[in-house]
Amino acid sequence: MDGLRQLGSTPLRVTPIGFGCWPIAGVSSLGVTEEASVATLHAALECGINFFDTAYAYGYDGEADRLLVRAGIPKREGVVIASKVGQYFDARRVRHIDGRPPTLLRHAQQVLRRLGVSAVDIMYLHQPDPHVPLAESAGAIAEIVRRGMARYGGVSNVDAEQLRQFVRHCPQTIVVQPPFNMLQQRCLHELQPVCQEKRISVVGYWVLMKGLLAGKLPRDHRFDPRDKRLTYPIFQGEAWQRAQDLLDRLREIAADLGCTVAQLVVAWTIAHPGVSVALCGAKRPEQIRETAAAMRLHVAPEILQEITLLADRFRNYFEF
Ligand SMILES: NC(=O)c1ccc[n+]([C@@H]2O[C@H](COP(=O)([O-])OP(=O)(O)OC[C@H]3O[C@@H](n4cnc5c(N)ncnc54)[C@H](OP(=O)(O)O)[C@@H]3O)[C@@H](O)[C@H]2O)c1
Repeated sequence: MDGLRQLGSTPLRVTPIGFGCWPIAGVSSLGVTEEASVATLHAALECGINFFDTAYAYGYDGEADRLLVRAGIPKREGVVIASKVGQYFDARRVRHIDGRPPTLLRHAQQVLRRLGVSAVDIMYLHQPDPHVPLAESAGAIAEIVRRGMARYGGVSNVDAEQLRQFVRHCPQTIVVQPPFNMLQQRCLHELQPVCQEKRISVVGYWVLMKGLLAGKLPRDHRFDPRDKRLTYPIFQGEAWQRAQDLLDRLREIAADLGCTVAQLVVAWTIAHPGVSVALCGAKRPEQIRETAAAMRLHVAPEILQEITLLADRFRNYFEF
C-alpha cells in the first residue's frame, strides 16, 4: 500500500492507521464477542492496515493476543506487531502497574508465547512505574531487544523529560505512544522537540476519544450505566456539551465533504505534523472499515486548518 510511514530511522513501514486491540480485549467495552472481534481483525487486514497494537494487559488473561492468533495475524507477512509490558491484571481483575525488570522480562516472554512468535517488532514500556526508577524499566526494555525478543523498543505515557531519560537507557527506542486527539494535543506538543532530536515516531492513542469523536453518540445519548466511559470527565456535564458543540461543526464539514465525522477526525489526525500513526480501536468490522477509509480521504489544507482552529477553541477545556 502507498503512504506507508517509516518508524524512527528503521526499515519498519506502517500504515498511518494502526489497529488498537484494547476494545476487543473486552475489559471496558460492552458487547464484545470473539466472532465479531476476529471479523474486525480480518476487516482491518482487508482494509490494508498492517500495524497492530496490543499489550500484556489487553485482557485479563491475554484475550487480545489470543484473538490476534485466531485471526492469523502474528505469522502474517508484512504485519508489524507492537506490544507493551508494565501493566497486568491480578486474579481479582484489578489492574497493577509493575515496571520491575524481572516482571517486564517475564511478561515479554509470555507475550511471545501467547502470540506464538520468537519476537515482536516493538515492545513498549506501558507506563512508568512510580515505584521503580525509569532507568531500570528502560534498561529492561533494552534487554528485551538485546535478547532478540523485540526488534525495537518504545515507551508510552511519558512526558518529555521521561522520554529523554528512557532513550538514554534504551537507545533502541523508536516510538513513543501518548494520547492524541483533537481535544488532547498537549502531550504531543511537549514531546515533539525530543522526538525530532532523537528521531522517534509518535503513535497517538485515543484518536477517536473512545468513540466520542466518531460523532455517532448524540447529545442526548443515554449511556449504559456499565459503560466505563462515563467515568471520564469528557463524557459528563459541561465537557460533554462542549464536545457536542465541536462535533456539530464537524458534522457539517463532514457532510460537505461527503465523509463521516470519524473519517474526518482520523484524516485530520494523520495529516497532523508530528503524528506518524493514529491508533484506532474497533470492536465491529464496520467500525474499522469506516475509520480505515480515512487513509484514502483527501482533505484540502484549508479545511484541515479550519479544523485545527476550531479544535483550538475547545482544547483548553478538555486537556487533563
Ligand atoms: N498506551 C496506552 O496507555 C493506551 C491507552 C489507551 C489506548 N491505547 C491504544 O490505542 C488504541 C485506541 O484507543 P481506544 O481503542 O481506547 O479508543 P479509540 O480508538 O479512541 O475509540 C475506539 C472506540 O470507538 C468506537 N468506534 C470506533 N470506530 C467507530 C466508528 N467507525 N463509528 C462509531 N464508533 C466507533 C468503538 O466504541 P463503541 O462501539 O463502544 O462506541 C471503539 O471501541 C487502543 O485500542 C490501544 O491499542 C493505548
